[in-house]
Amino acid sequence: MVDSTVLGMQSFPANGQLSAPMIQVQDVIKTFKNAAGEFTVLKGVNLTIRRGQFVSIIGKSGSGKSTLINMVTGIDYPSSGQVIIGETNLYKMNESERSLWRGRNLGIVFQFFQLLPMLTLLENVMLPMDYANMYTFDERKTRAMDLLRLVGLEDYAGKLPLAVSTGQQQSAAIARALANDPPLIVADEPTGNLDSRSAIAIIELFEALVEQGKTIVMVTHDPSLTARTDRTIILSDGELISEAVAQSLPLLSHRQMMDVTKQSQYMVFQPGETIIDCGQHVELFYMIEKGCVDIILSGRGKDARNITATLSPGAFFGEVELLKGGKAIASVRASQDEPVELLALSRGQFLELVKNSALTEDAIGHIVQQRLKENKAGRRPGWLNFGRSKDRKGA
Ligand SMILES: Nc1ncnc2c1ncn2[C@@H]1O[C@H](COP(=O)(O)OP(=O)(O)OP(=O)(O)O)[C@@H](O)[C@H]1O
Ligand SMILES: [Mg+2]
Repeated sequence: MVDSTVLGMQSFPANGQLSAPMIQVQDVIKTFKNAAGEFTVLKGVNLTIRRGQFVSIIGKSGSGKSTLINMVTGIDYPSSGQVIIGETNLYKMNESERSLWRGRNLGIVFQFFQLLPMLTLLENVMLPMDYANMYTFDERKTRAMDLLRLVGLEDYAGKLPLAVSTGQQQSAAIARALANDPPLIVADEPTGNLDSRSAIAIIELFEALVEQGKTIVMVTHDPSLTARTDRTIILSDGELISEAVAQSLPLLSHRQMMDVTKQSQYMVFQPGETIIDCGQHVELFYMIEKGCVDIILSGRGKDARNITATLSPGAFFGEVELLKGGKAIASVRASQDEPVELLALSRGQFLELVKNSALTEDAIGHIVQQRLKENKAGRRPGWLNFGRSKDRKGA
């Protein structure tokens, strides 16, 4: 277990509650220009991350993950678009204002750690406190030592970075990111150079931080780590894949997910509004992006019409009818509490997709069998199981 007494010294949330946006990336485009010409790495990214969320970012090498992280930290700047952290519009500040703001509000773990080679690990961890003029002179050393202890480096405090292993340098970089107790931690492959035991220790530390209300955004290639975060954002060639698509159809390749993201139409239904009437012909495959839908089964039991189940973001419906070519086996309506946002694919697009992904066909086929069985029995269903099991903190 992580000893986190050294964390959370700053009162938090400093401004605003959990669930308010912490990061807003709006229409961000990033183009690099060099001798070979122009190269657009981020092609219009929109993303909101709320306070207290633990978010992972994945995507193939070169998909733009580090570039996106650099937009959020203000280390690089977008060619167009806005980035707002808390209430601060990053690119309305000048370079030196931004740099001071960053030192006080962000903990950054770089992909290639960037410790200063001439300073000891202890001095490296103290540096952000000196720079941002946080804590008293005496407190800085004690605090830096506590942070090194937290990442298991108390015996290496006096060593230079090159005198310790890469994994230890990475851990020191994480201690440095926590120096000013920032509300937001942004980490680019923080466990990429760690053995699996050290990686788990770092993730437990991050979980403890999130528990205290901090927001963490982490680039990673490791699926065992993304499984422990609240949300996974997928970048594909400079664009974000819809999270609803990624959750509904997890067995597609990123390229296929991106195709589905682009093909699907966005729909909103008001609370209580009917989406599908039982017996009606179904022409669309629906994936839930936000909000919930209630399912009213048409089983043969006496009270079957009153049987409801709820599907939440990441779940889908309509596939039974599209694959079986029949009429709706259940009514579906938007749940009462908030509007539901859906992404829908046409019958043709859906059938094409299933044809091109054997794994998806198998997975959906399995769900179809199960849903048909439950519907026939007219009993309270495992429909509930098709929502995402992990509690999503209001994506
Ligand atoms: N300063 C730059 N000038 C020109 N091209 C750049 C620059 N920085 C990044 N790129 C290019 O942008 C693309 C995305 O790079 P980025 O580092 O964001 O990818 P990544 O998803 O972080 O990859 P990795 O998983 O390997 O870290 C790459 O093709 C890269 O070569
Ligand atoms: Mg990178």
